[in-house]
Amino acid sequence: MMFTLITGAGAGIGKALAFECARKNMNVLLVALPGPELESTVNEIRAAYRNIACYCLGIDLSRPESFCGVYKWVKENNFHVNILINNVGVGSKGDFEHTETIFYERQLELNVHAATMLTRLFLPDLKAHAPSHIMNTSSMGGFYMIPGKTVYIASKAYIYYFSRSLRLELKQHHINVSVLCPGGTNSNANTIAINKELKGIAKRSILLPEEVAAEAIDKMMKGKARIIPGFINKLSYHISRLVPEFIQQMIISNAFRHVKKHKY
Ligand SMILES: NC(=O)c1ccc[n+]([C@@H]2O[C@H](COP(=O)([O-])OP(=O)(O)OC[C@H]3O[C@@H](n4cnc5c(N)ncnc54)[C@H](OP(=O)(O)O)[C@@H]3O)[C@@H](O)[C@H]2O)c1
Repeated sequence: MMFTLITGAGAGIGKALAFECARKNMNVLLVALPGPELESTVNEIRAAYRNIACYCLGIDLSRPESFCGVYKWVKENNFHVNILINNVGVGSKGDFEHTETIFYERQLELNVHAATMLTRLFLPDLKAHAPSHIMNTSSMGGFYMIPGKTVYIASKAYIYYFSRSLRLELKQHHINVSVLCPGGTNSNANTIAINKELKGIAKRSILLPEEVAAEAIDKMMKGKARIIPGFINKLSYHISRLVPEFIQQMIISNAFRHVKKHKY
């Protein structure tokens, strides 16, 4: 029996991705922090989609030893993974120097190391079960420079280029690598609060996690390299490629000017 493994699947975009996979008759393995949120997501999926298998592992992915823990859990239970979705990640808002180093350690572990290490660990299995898929969640933010979101933006740019390069390497092995680049998404109380403060085009581009997930899974299955959910987001991305960098920067700074400083 083949499974899709999704990290950060207890809430937000990850939960919506898990529901979308289940809706498409795909068996799912959900990985997120241990707790009632993850348990209730599993129960909701099992109740709504009785014909698929759904299991979960509660684990803190900000701990380096957790990556081997996830792999061990999969092997011990004889699950076969042919789709890996590295979705876990945390955002932040605030001047670089005013955020504690411990926060950045955790953010880099979740946003950068988790995707890199899990991909490396599962690669032999994905090769063995090819044709298979890897989808990594980056962000539209990874295309731009955004003061006050420095480490987050850099981590998402890493995920973008990691995925695009890996795609070229794995093509010969029939492993598709897609990178999901959502714009603002009302995924949790924090993002909803931040998104409320956005202005102009940035405000109009906000999507629901379910909208992001539906487009993401559809395009991943079609083997798309870069997935930018939502018409306005796609349009802004393509226009921004034609606009000089200083104009791009003026538009972005204006959109984020009103956003208060949030820490996750
Ligand atoms: N929301 C946006 O506007 C937006 C835009 C662009 C990109 N993204 C990216 O999309 C991805 C998902 O974002 P989201 O907004 O949906 O996030 P979210 O609502 O905060 O959900 C995050 C999920 O990750 C899990 N998680 C958090 N810390 C963890 C840890 N230490 N170990 C294991 N699991 C952990 C959470 O578990 P619990 O449920 O137990 O807390 C939850 O299931 C992230 O990579 C994010 O950067 C988001």
